[in-house]
Amino acid sequence: MQILRARIFHTPANPFHQADALISIQDGGLVIQDGKIAACDDYAVVRAAHPDATVRDLRPGCLLPGFIDTHIHFPQVRIVGGIGYSLLDWLDQLALPEEARLADPAYAVTIAREFTQNLAAHGTTTALVFGAHFAGATAALFHAAQKTGLRIISGLVLSDRNLRPELHQTPQAAYDDSKRLITALSENSLQSYAVTPRFALSASEAMLEVCQTLLREYPALHFTTHLNENPSEITEVARLFPWSTDYLHIQERFGLATRRSVFAHNVHPTDNELERFAAHQCSVAHCPASNAALGSGIFPMRRHLDAGVHFALGTDVGAGTGFGIPKEALQAYLMQRIAPDPLTLTAAQMLWLATAAGAEALDLQTTMGDFSPGKSADYVWVRTSQDTLGSILTTLGPAGIGEVAVEGRPIR
Ligand code: GUN
Ligand code: ZN
Repeated sequence: MQILRARIFHTPANPFHQADALISIQDGGLVIQDGKIAACDDYAVVRAAHPDATVRDLRPGCLLPGFIDTHIHFPQVRIVGGIGYSLLDWLDQLALPEEARLADPAYAVTIAREFTQNLAAHGTTTALVFGAHFAGATAALFHAAQKTGLRIISGLVLSDRNLRPELHQTPQAAYDDSKRLITALSENSLQSYAVTPRFALSASEAMLEVCQTLLREYPALHFTTHLNENPSEITEVARLFPWSTDYLHIQERFGLATRRSVFAHNVHPTDNELERFAAHQCSVAHCPASNAALGSGIFPMRRHLDAGVHFALGTDVGAGTGFGIPKEALQAYLMQRIAPDPLTLTAAQMLWLATAAGAEALDLQTTMGDFSPGKSADYVWVRTSQDTLGSILTTLGPAGIGEVAVEGRPIR
């Protein structure tokens, strides 16, 4: 048993619903036993209760729950910063050529290592990750995550049209390869699987049926895809699925909108779609840096809140500008401040979006996201002498991150 002594911030409740949701402990003690949080309180209180525990004094730093990235692409580590494009041109000219390189197993292993090291270095302890279009590369990602000690949910990216031939699989091959990857994951590992059609633009109905079949065969799987990101994309998808009433309708038709579904972006939803997202209890991965970099638009956060649609943060590397979830929280703050229907996020809401909201999006809210006793000891030790949570989150980059742990085990 050990006690980490530092300033502590966490959000066991949702600060969009509750004004006093932020817990801030000036001289805090986080008690860790067997990889789980045993207690989180004033240092003097936990010390008195656990006189035999080892104490690590991490002052003047602070402890935050591990950051959770709900949308990021493993094959895109090396193309961060390709500015000046809109979504479809960016895919065609930058992202897809790089993704095709992951057919080379040695390159995939190198990228997987770079990717997982970057996540850990930025304080991300759990991520929902778009894998590669190749089973070998996707397996390399799971392997690298396992070695690092990171928790990831990922899957083979499925597409059978409109990308480039090297990235297309037949629906049968997609099914077979997905099944092999799913069954290769052991029950008690930190890794789990997400069925991942890239977006409706690159998936035929037969491919979406494969997704539906996989979710039926393995009901605990997660599901993720892109949706409603860019006006040209939305127009093209409507043309490809002439029977659809809107983008979400396509996912609904194949049973892909569930509590375990995370839809990336949703910058341009209709009111009716928002009502249905809420009814299905699915989540949205909000990626504010990517939305600005690709000129996709300003996320309608207030409309999501009003409709009761859950959202959390994603970096969307490589369309996004980097691995930092705190930077993403800041970008969300900045964009909403000047949105047409503006909203001023609080520091508590920023922390919630970076941590517990992600846990909820991944249906892992009973396991992680804050320091409640019984949850996994996933934490970030931030070396800072800043006073307020707003300053800490605004200025926090990889240089400020001291230690990052998953289940109490340091991962960097
Ligand atoms: N839509 C389909 N593929 C992608 C991708 O790689 N990045 C983003 N931002 N949107 C997408
Ligand atoms: Zn993306």
